[in-house]
Amino acid sequence: MDTSKNPIGLFDSGIGGTSIWKEVHRLLPNEDTIYLADSKNAPYGLRPKQEIIDLSFKNTKFLLERGCKIIVVACNTATTNAIKELRANFNVPFIGIEPAIKPAAIHTKTNAVGILATKGTLSSELFNQTVSGFTGVNVIEQVGHGLVELIEGGKLESTEMQILLEEYLNPMIEANIDYLVLGCSHYPYLAPQMRKILPESVTIIDSGKPVAKQTKKVLQSMDLLNTDLHEVYNTFYTNADAHVLQSIIGTKFTAEHIDF
Ligand code: DGL
Repeated sequence: MDTSKNPIGLFDSGIGGTSIWKEVHRLLPNEDTIYLADSKNAPYGLRPKQEIIDLSFKNTKFLLERGCKIIVVACNTATTNAIKELRANFNVPFIGIEPAIKPAAIHTKTNAVGILATKGTLSSELFNQTVSGFTGVNVIEQVGHGLVELIEGGKLESTEMQILLEEYLNPMIEANIDYLVLGCSHYPYLAPQMRKILPESVTIIDSGKPVAKQTKKVLQSMDLLNTDLHEVYNTFYTNADAHVLQSIIGTKFTAEHIDF
């Protein structure tokens, strides 16, 4: 069966994965997409591995019931804890997102790299395997306690956010990092605030663009790119307050509440 005209499905524990969706949409504007924000269950980062797997299965089934031809796991926590199980249980290609430690570790000149991610990502086997490949580099790991909750609560530019960011980034600045890896798909929305705290010499990197490129590559290799000229549909679902998702995707698109 030709599924090339079917949508790309993306899910995250909440609204953060829209940072990945934006890159996918930019690179593949002719593709329909369905984005699923499981905000009711955010944050995933504090949950045990099995719960993250169960929620990832539930999200995947939701997207497959709507015909998605490929699933982008737009969440580092879900990828690092559940991608193996997802690939073993569903007959559809999965694209995962992992913290961009590799480019940071390769390009650092100060030999110090900061990573901000959830507890679930930093404690995962997959992440620790990746980091163990760069023993010569000082990797400063910091759990972004509270950041996802503030973003999901629509408090991106709050004083609370500023205080937390300073607390997490100042020790990294003292350790002389020249790369900050954003290991959670929510965090690119914090880049403007981070930029004000970090010295200019620090480069902030996230995984949005590489994930979009990989999605295109996989679709191409499986002959699944949508080459039909058609009206493109980008659908956004959330099981929490649609206003927060709406504020982040802008007025060109519509966020819909759905119970799941
Ligand atoms: N956005 C998710 C990530 O990339 C997780 C946030 C959370 O639910 O803890 O890790």
